Amino acid sequence: MSVHKTLVQALVASAAMAGVGNAHAIAVPAGQLDARTYPTPTCDPSQTVTQTETKTVTSWKALLTITLGGGTKTETKTEICTVTDTETVTQTETSTTTTTVTPTITPPSCPTQCPPPPSCNNLGFDWAYYNNSARNTDTTYSTFHPDSYKKTTPIYVGTTSYVGGLYQDTGTAGPIYDSSRNFNLDFFALNHHAYIYACEAGTYSVDIPYANDAVYLWTGANAYSGWTDDNAVAKARYDQPDHIAGKASYKFDIPANTYVPIRFFYGQAQYGGGFNFNITAPSGQVIVSNQETFSPYVVRYSCDGTTAPPFPAFGKET
Ligand SMILES: *[C@@H]1O[C@H](CO)[C@@H](O)[C@H](O)[C@H]1NC(C)=O
Ligand SMILES: *[C@@H]1O[C@H](CO)[C@@H](O)[C@H](O)[C@H]1NC(C)=O
Repeated sequence: MSVHKTLVQALVASAAMAGVGNAHAIAVPAGQLDARTYPTPTCDPSQTVTQTETKTVTSWKALLTITLGGGTKTETKTEICTVTDTETVTQTETSTTTTTVTPTITPPSCPTQCPPPPSCNNLGFDWAYYNNSARNTDTTYSTFHPDSYKKTTPIYVGTTSYVGGLYQDTGTAGPIYDSSRNFNLDFFALNHHAYIYACEAGTYSVDIPYANDAVYLWTGANAYSGWTDDNAVAKARYDQPDHIAGKASYKFDIPANTYVPIRFFYGQAQYGGGFNFNITAPSGQVIVSNQETFSPYVVRYSCDGTTAPPFPAFGKET
């Protein structure tokens, strides 16, 4: 990708330029200078910029100072430079008007935002609600078995932009996520699945800072099918006798440009409960949390339908 530095072209008194797109000449009335727009630079910290300037200066003088990566160049015709910082152009025209311009370009922040995959009404998690009769009476909620729900027809299925919640023990029903109906908020289970699209290669972190009563996690192929209580990669479980909430963290590496299946299963027993669940990308961006915004990196399937196929229907899982 090339970065066009139109500021260098500020000295161009005529449009006699070759090979540079989006050229602007600033030998124009001063009132129009502020209205210029600059192409948005794209971030690639390692890139070099090659540009060629052809200028024709007739009856005026100009001074150009470019600060690029700490270097200063004056009246350069051909530059190869690394773009890291801001630019200053000072121009003095010694004919009828005098114009001083100090434009500021905000340099692209690096690393730049990771490009999300195409979207096609496919954002968010699929989720399902089931009744769950398992009471928590021990340190690991050992009566709760997520894999026992594979063939259980859920009471409700939906799509959600956010995950986690607190379920109060008020004896009254309430909605879950953006459900169109209310549910009992004790003795239930929630199954969630989606794909994380990793445009950034690197280590992703799943954090379950609070689990009451249990959250089980699967990533990769097992999250799509083959998930069992035993092969969960993380389990956060409420210690009932000691009243200690469960928590867990899991880190995993993903190559760039891949879709990775994610499944987590929440179990709520007697009394109130709840859970938090976050996923953080290598850049530090939190892409899954209790924030009610769709992340472009969390999809239920890929738009081509084959790279990341839809998950099997709840109740017909394997
Ligand atoms: C789920 O549990 C509620 C409350 O106990 C009950 O009314 C409902 O019939 C149950 N639904 C199913 C499908 O078991
Ligand atoms: C994870 O979720 C908890 C609870 O919502 C929140 O307090 C915490 O800040 C989140 N972590 C990150 C890294 O966003």
